[in-house]
Amino acid sequence: MAATAEHSTTGTSAPAYYVSTPIYYVNDRPHLGHAYTTVAGDVLTRWHRQRGEKVWYLTGTDEHGQKIMRTAEANGVSPQEWCDKLVEEAWKPLWAHLEIANDDFIRTTEERHTARVQEFVQDLYDKGEIYKGGYSGPYCVGCEEFKLPSELLDGATEDEKLCSVHKRPVEWLEEENYFFRLSAYGPKLLEFYAANPGFIQPASARNEVLRFVEQDLKDLSISRSTFNWGVPLPWDEKHVLYVWVDALQNYITAAGYGSDPERFAELWPASVHLVGKDILRFHAVIWPAMLMAAGLPLPKRVVANGWLMVGGEKMSKSNLTGIAPTDLTSHFGVDAYRYYFLRAIPFGTDGSFSWEDFTARYTSELANDFGNLASRVAAMVGKYFGGELPASAAHGDAEQAIADGLRTAVETADQKIGEELDFAGGLAAIFEFVKQVNGYLTEQEPWKVAKDESAEGQARLATILYTAAEALRGTAVLLNPVMPSTAEKLWDSLGATEGLGALAAQTVATAGDWGRLPAGATVTKGEILFPRLEEKPAS
Ligand code: MSP
Repeated sequence: MAATAEHSTTGTSAPAYYVSTPIYYVNDRPHLGHAYTTVAGDVLTRWHRQRGEKVWYLTGTDEHGQKIMRTAEANGVSPQEWCDKLVEEAWKPLWAHLEIANDDFIRTTEERHTARVQEFVQDLYDKGEIYKGGYSGPYCVGCEEFKLPSELLDGATEDEKLCSVHKRPVEWLEEENYFFRLSAYGPKLLEFYAANPGFIQPASARNEVLRFVEQDLKDLSISRSTFNWGVPLPWDEKHVLYVWVDALQNYITAAGYGSDPERFAELWPASVHLVGKDILRFHAVIWPAMLMAAGLPLPKRVVANGWLMVGGEKMSKSNLTGIAPTDLTSHFGVDAYRYYFLRAIPFGTDGSFSWEDFTARYTSELANDFGNLASRVAAMVGKYFGGELPASAAHGDAEQAIADGLRTAVETADQKIGEELDFAGGLAAIFEFVKQVNGYLTEQEPWKVAKDESAEGQARLATILYTAAEALRGTAVLLNPVMPSTAEKLWDSLGATEGLGALAAQTVATAGDWGRLPAGATVTKGEILFPRLEEKPAS
């Protein structure tokens, strides 16, 4: 885990900006789709940290249920051994590699989770929210979800029905189960959605949930009795808790529910649950109803991202492109990877990955527009001023336009990324500004002005280069949440630490204030930010 101690929130009770990812099933290694949600959450939380807010970012793994149990069996190990191996060898290392700065990593097999889960369901049982009944119906182990016959596709034979997500046969379950009185919560949920129109985003997701809840909700089977890889029900140990009811509670157990009231008060309710659109109902219907039943406050927002697609289907274990996240990072670098998916796919809609599109954006936006700008400015300050940033002599209209452009980029990006989770829109605004600075240099032609050795010419040259360097100073702050290593390199090359302190200590609020980079800063031509790409590896 790339968690950093300074982000710890314990000790005061002011609310923190708390963002969660889904906890991922560890039946397999992480793929591009999982990384997509996790990077988005990382950028969102880094953005809020850059605002100077207290932040808490949670991710983790979902380790119970039939899917994991069967995978472990098929590999000849116990479920716990399987989970331990995958978490340590695949999941945590990938998040560290992608520079995910999560503050905690919860595993649902940890005692800190299972003990609290048992208390939570016991409480619901004691309140009469859970009763015993019988379930018979279709179940998809891939989704770990009870299905309605109307949701299924026809299979190869008359009796066979397929899950519409996995395109694999569902299983018929006939068990004695415990049920949660979900049906009682329909009207309360609708009331809550109406009073909190921003609760489910985007609008398409909200509408889908509203239509679903407007039909009669059925009670939810919350236990399984035909296998034992799960949290036992405290009042009837022949049953294990349905994996989703166990999993959803990670958001409170990690936040200190039942163990650390002070921390829980600071963190709960969560600010944003990030989810894929496939698991929206669990988060926007079942989870809020469970919380209502327990008398706990509801999360502020549930934001659904679209799917990364392959050949028109949701990218999943069974239809992977064969491309692992690390195949892309070894070619394009980690920062370009973090940037690309958020820039290329409007958050909330489905999108496809292609080498061609990634290569095109890398080359034009990152290497040419941004990387070249940084190296040209550093090279000119080196060549004409011995690497010492000159003071701006005469800030004219052209310079004011750049200063205004920076302020607009800061305000737009802050609203779009920090509030709306419109990462593509926020990044577009930042790169619009980078283009504007390139245009300014093209117009001002500092390389020509440099030939004018008069005091006036030199003053003009100083103004142009100061303006460009100061524009890069603001850009480094804005890009730090998205591309932390690159932003750090740029910050170093601008010699900004000496006058302004660490990049991490800069705030979004002051990023648009013009003239922060002090004259006299030591500008150095650091390494190329986005080197020319090697040939695409043979697939
Ligand atoms: N374990 C449950 C979640 C429990 S949360 C209390 C689960 N796990 S999962 O590993 O199957 O997938 C979780 C999430 O991974 C999805 O909701 C989504 O956020 C992300 N993605 C998985 N495949 C994806 C794509 N192809 N595209 C985009 N995101 C995808 O469901």
